[in-house]
Amino acid sequence: MLDLVTPVQGRVAFYDLSRKQESFAEAVVAGLSRTPKSIPSHFLYDAQGSALFDRICALPEYYPTRTEMRILAQSAPAIARLVGPEATLIELGSGSSVKVRLLLDAMTAPSAYVPIDVSGEHLLAAAEALAADYPGLAVAAICADYGDTFPLPETPGRGRQVAFFPGSTIGNLEPDDAERFLSGWARSGVDMIVGVDLVKSRDVLEPAYDDAEGVTAAFSLNLLARANRELSADFDLSAFAHRSRWDEESSRIEIGIESLKDQIVRAAGHSFRFAAGERIETEHSYKYPVAGFQAMAGRAGYRPEAVWVDPDQLFSVHYLKA
Ligand code: AVI
Repeated sequence: MLDLVTPVQGRVAFYDLSRKQESFAEAVVAGLSRTPKSIPSHFLYDAQGSALFDRICALPEYYPTRTEMRILAQSAPAIARLVGPEATLIELGSGSSVKVRLLLDAMTAPSAYVPIDVSGEHLLAAAEALAADYPGLAVAAICADYGDTFPLPETPGRGRQVAFFPGSTIGNLEPDDAERFLSGWARSGVDMIVGVDLVKSRDVLEPAYDDAEGVTAAFSLNLLARANRELSADFDLSAFAHRSRWDEESSRIEIGIESLKDQIVRAAGHSFRFAAGERIETEHSYKYPVAGFQAMAGRAGYRPEAVWVDPDQLFSVHYLKA
């Protein structure tokens, strides 16, 4: 059972497990000291980063969010039948808790909602807004990395426990990590509803990660701005640029920040040398064919129960049975 570390605020129980994670300072110092330089993608999601990511989701080039929303809206009754009554829905990387409403609205007497997200303020605000709209639902928010292992809080539901992992965030894990992550949930007997972006043409993929308005670039560069804010770093944002490309062989979008000149930057009390053209790797976004993802879920101990795909075959939503 988890301890409540802050008092219950309104109807939302809030558990802050974020202090147990590697700190941003440690990640930046370690990540900028290795070759190639890299910083784990979950550090992109501070308050500013989360707000920029919400803007990405509304961009014309970024098809995953609206496509997944359409799939969920159409398949919610079928998903709700598989979930069953009085279920607890655990959302991994819950962000603004928008998509989950489509499921909650279709479910029979959902008992509890457990949103998990690294961005504490954003999480609490979203959980409180949702709790206000669903008066009968127990809401227990956990501020943590969705990939961490921790006990779930006790919730009142007598139905299934089902994890909801939308947005193809699973694509931000390396495939071995994704399989390990799935097998952890499968072993706990938790069913999974997971959104997975599909392999498609470069012409559609690359603009989705480098939009005309520059919101994705701002989202990437916010990592350096965050280091300036939190770690007394002196990154000159105009001397770095967002870069992304589709690598067909590894079936992933590779996202990074490129230094536009030779420079030395200070962060968290350390100096880091950048050569012109050198990159900080920030994110991979893997894309899977339906059968490839189902095979991975099977290896992880899940039975692929159902899958829904949009008519343009852009995105998939899977129901995996533990
Ligand atoms: C959160 N995740 C699924 C996004 C993606 O599509 O891989 C992150 C992202 N990064 C830039 N644009 C979107």
